[in-house]
Amino acid sequence: MCGIIGYIGEGDVAEFLVKGLKRLEYRGYDSAGISLIAGGLISTVKCGGNISKLEKKLEKVEFKDAKLGIGHTRWATHGEPTDENAHPHTSCKDEIAIAHNGIIENYKTLKKMLMDKGHAFKSDTDSEVIAHLIEEFYDGDLESAVARAVKSIEGAYAIASIHKSEDRIVVACKSSPIVIGFGDGAMFIASDAAALVGNTNKVVYLSDGEIASVMCDRIHVRKLNGESVNKQVKRLDASLSDVEKGGFKHFMLKEIFEQPESLSNLIRGRVRGNSVKLTLNVNLNSVSRIIIIACGTSWHSAIIGKYIIENLIRVPVEVDYASEFKYRNPIIGRGDLVIAISQSGETADTIGAVRAAKQKGARVIGIVNVVGSTISREVDGGIYLRAGPEISVASTKAFTSQVLALLLFALYARQARGGVADNQLLNEITDLPNMVDRVLDNAKIVERIAEDLAQKRNFLYLGRGINYPVALEGALKLKEISYIHAEGYPAGEMKHGPIALIDEGFPVVFISPKDGLYDKVVSNMEEVKARKAIVIAVINEIDENVRQVADYIIEVPKTSPLVSPIINVIPLQLLAYYIADLKGVDVDRPRNLAKSVTVE
Ligand code: AGP
Ligand code: GLU
Repeated sequence: MCGIIGYIGEGDVAEFLVKGLKRLEYRGYDSAGISLIAGGLISTVKCGGNISKLEKKLEKVEFKDAKLGIGHTRWATHGEPTDENAHPHTSCKDEIAIAHNGIIENYKTLKKMLMDKGHAFKSDTDSEVIAHLIEEFYDGDLESAVARAVKSIEGAYAIASIHKSEDRIVVACKSSPIVIGFGDGAMFIASDAAALVGNTNKVVYLSDGEIASVMCDRIHVRKLNGESVNKQVKRLDASLSDVEKGGFKHFMLKEIFEQPESLSNLIRGRVRGNSVKLTLNVNLNSVSRIIIIACGTSWHSAIIGKYIIENLIRVPVEVDYASEFKYRNPIIGRGDLVIAISQSGETADTIGAVRAAKQKGARVIGIVNVVGSTISREVDGGIYLRAGPEISVASTKAFTSQVLALLLFALYARQARGGVADNQLLNEITDLPNMVDRVLDNAKIVERIAEDLAQKRNFLYLGRGINYPVALEGALKLKEISYIHAEGYPAGEMKHGPIALIDEGFPVVFISPKDGLYDKVVSNMEEVKARKAIVIAVINEIDENVRQVADYIIEVPKTSPLVSPIINVIPLQLLAYYIADLKGVDVDRPRNLAKSVTVE
């Protein structure tokens, strides 16, 4: 769970590496470092802390005539985030340097074996064994040594390696991405294409079990058995403004405001007249049960998906945490379809669940944002969100796109199963970007509510039916970026326990659109108001009942219930954002978290 960057060619290598690391910092940010080959020697500068700390350290260093180098930003799994444990790691003779993303599961056995052979270790990481293994196998050819090394390791890895006497960067990966970019007189490598935007739009994604030698004007890719692979060069469509803040104070705010655009991108070409066009590569007629697997925010969209799919195609849907699914020996039959939802496409739990489902013979489709990610490559088919890079650790635009993708999936499945088109839903979907714009126009109202409530220590979020998962998502957003304790609950369950928490001044956020459950939710508002709670209501239109009980009202456009979560979640994203910002915390990079959780 980290970022890897590499550069070979003319120009200031160190400057490129540091710039690339800054783009990747959201993937992991507890230590960072770079290794360059300059004057026939490997020079490494690294430290615990974020990239700015590395930059400070680099001010005192000069790399003469460096032509290539690698860099890393770390999210520790093995060993504390200290200077010694920061990557790159070097071999005993300082001839080889490596940066690694992932976990080497058999590192203890390998470390013992290497120590018995006389290798001295400088860090507590699992990753350092890779540098020593490569040294052990090195016989004048880095590519072959890396191939032998990766054959010995178990676990997940993206590796970038250099040798002081070779003009190339050798990369390899398994269950962790590596992308190679083609520049003019230079080549780039990165663990996320976002780091390459602005430098090139021609990329190659390395597949599991492949090794590539990246020279300044070409690459050579081969499989572990030595067989050469002809890789297809893909076009990278993201632009610089996609990966930079574009005038917003934080990526999270930028991404919240990008939602009209991200939703339009998802719809484009997929909603035509009164039909939905998708390419899923699965026959939906024979599906008798659907299982959705995901984690975190994506799991919340999965629960919304259950409401949507069951409503539109009347096929039973189960939702499982990916981390639970794999280990409970799930019962999967031939009529089952598994849907994996993941923004990053790299979440280890979800990858594990996808593999378990496939092994049991299920058809698996993915709802994924990152193109070329592991999940997108392993599923039978699926829907790309096209939401653009989501940099902030807190997921916002990916969530609304996931819900919309589930809606498109259900409408498409309904068509495929001979059902009639739902024109009202299709019209609302087409109008969604405008409606989201209208919600965002009221951001100031939410900001003022945040000013009043930022000092509260607990929040409760309540919703019913399809808006119950929206309550869960609102609570998760607040807790992960502001560190305020927050819980989401089905409003009807409140009386079975959580109501005991309510006392004077306790903020309770209600998601209460004007649907069949509206009156019941208003009764729940009355119940907490009677106990002197502060009521914040997200509603469609102000009526007398709400005016009497709510302390704060956020009005949003009215839609069909199945579309409403996409609209209702936006004020909750804004509320979490403004509260976190008022508290002065690092909104885009909350403590203890990382953007893609690539470990179990
Ligand atoms: C979202 O705000 C969280 N940071 C987290 O719950 C996230 O949704 C989860 O880790 C799943 O990630 P994925 O969608 O990339 O698989
Ligand atoms: N397991 C390695 C470490 O702890 C790599 C972690 C990462 O992917 O950042 O150093």
